[in-house]
Amino acid sequence: MDKQMADLTGDSKRRKFLKQLLSGSIATLAMPALAAGASLEGKDKNALLTAPADVADERYWEMVKKQFTVPSNLIMFNAANLCPSPYFINDLVESTMKGLGKDVSFQYRSQFAAKRAKSLEKTAQFMGVTKEEIGIVRNASEGNSIMVQGFDLKPGEEIILWDQNHPSNSIAWEQKAKRSGFIVKKIPMPASPKSADELVAAFAKAITPKTRMISFSHISNTSGMTLPAKEICKLAKSKNILTMVDGAQSLGMMDLNLTDVGCDFYTASTHKWLMGPLENGILYVKKEHLEKLWPNVISAGWKEMGSTVDEKLCVLGQRNETSPFALPETIDFHLTMGKKNIEDRVRKLNARLKEQIQAKIPQAVFVSPLSSEMTAGITIINLPGKTPLEINQKLYDTYGIACAPSGGVRMSPHIYNTMADVDKVVEALTTLSA
Ligand SMILES: Cc1ncc(COP(=O)(O)O)c(C=O)c1O
Repeated sequence: MDKQMADLTGDSKRRKFLKQLLSGSIATLAMPALAAGASLEGKDKNALLTAPADVADERYWEMVKKQFTVPSNLIMFNAANLCPSPYFINDLVESTMKGLGKDVSFQYRSQFAAKRAKSLEKTAQFMGVTKEEIGIVRNASEGNSIMVQGFDLKPGEEIILWDQNHPSNSIAWEQKAKRSGFIVKKIPMPASPKSADELVAAFAKAITPKTRMISFSHISNTSGMTLPAKEICKLAKSKNILTMVDGAQSLGMMDLNLTDVGCDFYTASTHKWLMGPLENGILYVKKEHLEKLWPNVISAGWKEMGSTVDEKLCVLGQRNETSPFALPETIDFHLTMGKKNIEDRVRKLNARLKEQIQAKIPQAVFVSPLSSEMTAGITIINLPGKTPLEINQKLYDTYGIACAPSGGVRMSPHIYNTMADVDKVVEALTTLSA
């Protein structure tokens, strides 16, 4: 099955996949529950079977939307917080939990260890690194905390943070600094940058001979601003400074390869843009840095130096072993559509969202940059005279639209949204802004 999946990542192969799906010859491949005749609720099997294989065709994405159980009276527009999983992932998680309920023996549970190993392998491949450099944690917050608590900074040494970092990559460092005596420098980005170079320059300006690490959100959850991670990492490397990228808003949305990004550490949640099962995260530590990190938790199964990120930093004692169970299938789902196609689609949804808001609600104030170079999957606006909380509540209560009151009215559409969903959201905002 893996070999078959690996063969299905290119464009022509995607066409072949859908053709085969149509003919039923690989009916159990990418969407196993469908072919197995399992629960079909929330989708139209005929629409799926007649969908075109061309990602430029809106009907392709209508087919994708049918792979989720979100009912038609709701629009999930909050990928930056939490994504639904495709129905076959939900089914897999549910059946795995039920299986565990029947048999908790070591013998039965040996499959979980095997599946965790597979998850590490697939995730590493997906992110362009080795499986020894990947650990499975519970979410990005935990990945960030493992870094903050496990990495030693000496008194007087400096770490540079973006002032839009998530609390788990900001307050956490400040708390640790109180204990350890290192210096936290938080820097703002220019309000209306004209180019990504200006964003890199803001970091360059803050560097001193005492700087040891730069730690930043790849994409801000409160403005949607997207930092040029590769260029910032390149700058840091040229000065012998380590980089930690919080990728909670980039993993599963961007067509990423961490080796290409060149960061030393990376963290993310898999229940956001990756649309994986709840309560999983990824911690990446470049091989040569594993020895620099102290483990936060030590329990049975912990292994000392020379071991992997997962063995050294992610051992948690008894946990819900079923959580990471569906990660390989989640990654297969992404590869079926293609990482680049996913990024392109999310960018197109956001471009239309911005265009329509500008055309229909001229009084809307954009918190997110308008340029596609400096944003990615998140668009945030404010409506004069209304609070984000009020708009957010009305969007859900009146229109079944789930956004977030985060930095403004935060909208983060994903591949389970169609252009028609975007138009419905803009229509609702237009009415609410009056
Ligand atoms: C940039 C960033 N980092 C970390 C997190 C924390 O994610 P989680 O709650 O899944 O741990 C978030 C959540 O929104 C985020 O946006």
